[in-house]
Amino acid sequence: MKLYSILFFATFFLLASCSKIQTFTAGFDKTHDRVWVGKDFWSIPIEDWKVEDGKLHCIGKVPESRVNLLTHVISEEMGDFEVSSKIMLSEEGEVPGSAGFFIGVSDEEDPDVRAACYFGNGVKAGVSLNGYAFLKNEKTELPEDFDFSDFNLKVTGNNSKLKLAVLNKEGEVVQELTSDHEPIHGLVAVVNNFMLDENEPQGKSNFVFDDIVLKGSKVIEKQENSFGPVLWTMHTMSKGTVKLMALLPPVGEEDNQDVSLQLKNGENWETVSTETIESDSRTALFRLEDWDDAKDVDYRVEYVEVGKDGSETSNYYEGTIRENPVDKPLKLGGLTCQFHFGFPYTPLVENLTELNPDMLYFSGDQIYEGNGGYPIKREPADVSILSYLGKYYMFGWAFGDLMRNRPTVCTPDDHDVFHGNLWGEAGVDKPGGAGSSDTRGFMQSVDMVNVVNRTQCGQLPDPYDPTPIKRGMSVWYTDINYGRISFAVVSDRIFKTGPEAVSDWEGRHDHMKEPREDLSFLDKEGVKMLGDRQMEFLNDWIEDWEETDMKVLLSQTVFANVATHHGSLENYLYGDLDSGGWPKTGRDKVIRLMRKGAALHINGDQHVPSLVQYGLEDYRDAGWSYCTPAIAVMYLRWFLPDELGRPVLDRPEHGYPNTGKYTDAFGNKNYVYAIGNPGKNTIDRDSRYNHAQIRSSGFGMITFDKDERTIKMDAWRFQADVENPNPLRDQFPGWPHTISQFDNFGKGTVNLLPMVEVNKPNQLIEVRKTSNNALIRIFRMKGNSFQVGLHHPGTFDIKVGEGENVKEIKGLSTQEGENPEKISVEL
Ligand SMILES: [Fe+2]
Repeated sequence: MKLYSILFFATFFLLASCSKIQTFTAGFDKTHDRVWVGKDFWSIPIEDWKVEDGKLHCIGKVPESRVNLLTHVISEEMGDFEVSSKIMLSEEGEVPGSAGFFIGVSDEEDPDVRAACYFGNGVKAGVSLNGYAFLKNEKTELPEDFDFSDFNLKVTGNNSKLKLAVLNKEGEVVQELTSDHEPIHGLVAVVNNFMLDENEPQGKSNFVFDDIVLKGSKVIEKQENSFGPVLWTMHTMSKGTVKLMALLPPVGEEDNQDVSLQLKNGENWETVSTETIESDSRTALFRLEDWDDAKDVDYRVEYVEVGKDGSETSNYYEGTIRENPVDKPLKLGGLTCQFHFGFPYTPLVENLTELNPDMLYFSGDQIYEGNGGYPIKREPADVSILSYLGKYYMFGWAFGDLMRNRPTVCTPDDHDVFHGNLWGEAGVDKPGGAGSSDTRGFMQSVDMVNVVNRTQCGQLPDPYDPTPIKRGMSVWYTDINYGRISFAVVSDRIFKTGPEAVSDWEGRHDHMKEPREDLSFLDKEGVKMLGDRQMEFLNDWIEDWEETDMKVLLSQTVFANVATHHGSLENYLYGDLDSGGWPKTGRDKVIRLMRKGAALHINGDQHVPSLVQYGLEDYRDAGWSYCTPAIAVMYLRWFLPDELGRPVLDRPEHGYPNTGKYTDAFGNKNYVYAIGNPGKNTIDRDSRYNHAQIRSSGFGMITFDKDERTIKMDAWRFQADVENPNPLRDQFPGWPHTISQFDNFGKGTVNLLPMVEVNKPNQLIEVRKTSNNALIRIFRMKGNSFQVGLHHPGTFDIKVGEGENVKEIKGLSTQEGENPEKISVEL
């Protein structure tokens, strides 16, 4: 009986452990020819790999170019594993190369699969065309007649040993290597051209891989690691229209080109729209009119993969289009600038998720040229597009889960179009082509720029005026009304004049090295900031207050030069014509326009967070700007007027250094309420995330309380503890800060019109100058009374109410300091 029991349990455990053995195989025989390898894999760089004739080809020269296997990984459990692949040399470059595997790829900073793909290290196992096989630090010679055009590699391992077997095409083992190893876990990747011996020149060959197998008791399946075929979605909701864009990877011409949007109705999914993938941007855009915004609606995007053999696999990407938050404060996450060392930004993403914003604004630099750890490709156009997409997909992989359930505004800035700086002059080609980063024009093709525009802004409400700019370049400036906040979305780069139009100094056109007595040369006729078309739009937008309590301008950078040191503390720069402080005339125009409607300005780009109250004729006589922290700062900037000995003028009560009133190089009067300078210590080589933290990385959260008409601005650090926050530790100095919406009218409004009392609360108020009907103020009053204060005296007409129900009071004169007159309005 006892023996029977033992046998029974032994058999049971044997069966139980056998059933755990996972086998993953990829033969690519059902895969159509395409760039995207499939949802089980992630290739880096994406443009250097393709599936063709049922095999996986590397066609690039980037060292250690690799395809990571995502969905089956080597676990930390006891057991064994086997990795194998057929490998074929397809092109022997001018320098002999190598091929094989990374085994156990994981990132020391972050256990996340995305971190492993881009920052993970694994054991190297492979063969070199120089005639040897390698495993970890071991090397052994291959037979002289070894045929690299068709061979197999097999790596087996357990928790202490690794073995590499090199097999010829007949399947005979021709060489073996073993190595002791501590327990191994992580991803497996196939690799083209390892970085081997320091003395060995970097290989330039290309290999083809096929029949990739990963199996064993240490292997576990992780379908949650897969990426695609719907990579992520972005949507907006405004004025009864939802636009939702699905971003797909580069599928092949023979692949299914249709993508469907389904909405959940009760327990059923109903297809509401089917769209074709736009071939350059690899996006499918859905538009839903007459949207009932009073409830949450679950959606899913369906993409059916149809294999070469006709097999169909349905794939779904789910999310929620949330109820329009009209009755509660609106929380906007303000994000900018993603340098990849912080990828996938886990501490920041977790904090943002915890704070649960209603809407997201990514104001630019969703990519940097070096992101992913390999260089961009500028041409030809189709390759530059793939090069951009590969880097942009990192953004979607990092923030996709946040974007799936809330509206997202995303605007490209300079780096998104492969520029250090950009003065677009409405789409002109850069004279002289790529190279200079201090002159006007675009380096990249219009096709590529239009892909950037589409992939970042496709989900935005339709452009105000969709007429393309020069050379057929698309535009995206528009407005969004969400949660009773009206956002204008503009570009402060695409129309801007190049600095060479005004610079008369030696050296870089955009670097003004010293003060000048007369600044008028900087603002000569025809020099543009936002450009005529966007100003026309903004003039229209500022007057549109339907379903609106507050106005916000979203652009890329702050309209002031709030940085004194760039790149390093040795690099003092007096005036930066890449900053939004120049050109001043255009800058003043837009600030004056925002002031009419008490609009807040939210932006990014600078990598040093700032909270500035703008000045026009005097300090603080206009609205506020919040330049949000960068997600991960590479290029450092500081604003250090104290260290430069500039006099302290009106330091805010908090007393933090480098705050107060300062005039910038272009004559802008800036009241710097808060600044998030990096400290002296800006490098942490041991921790990518701490490196981000000490370089002033983080994000902004802006809370619009429509009942109180207040705006609270938080500036969270990269590694903040938002659940148990300590403002001194977790936010930048001076944040959080709360202002009234009406603070955006600016100080010095001493010329008062009569107090107006209205029988109905929260009416729209419009103030125009009697003599010329010019718009001076437009806002929604809070409660039942208001008194307009203006910077200049005069006689004005006031309109109260909107639509059919409007009363007008004409010819009211201001009084300075005090105006005891009261007017009652019945609507
Ligand atoms: Fe940036």
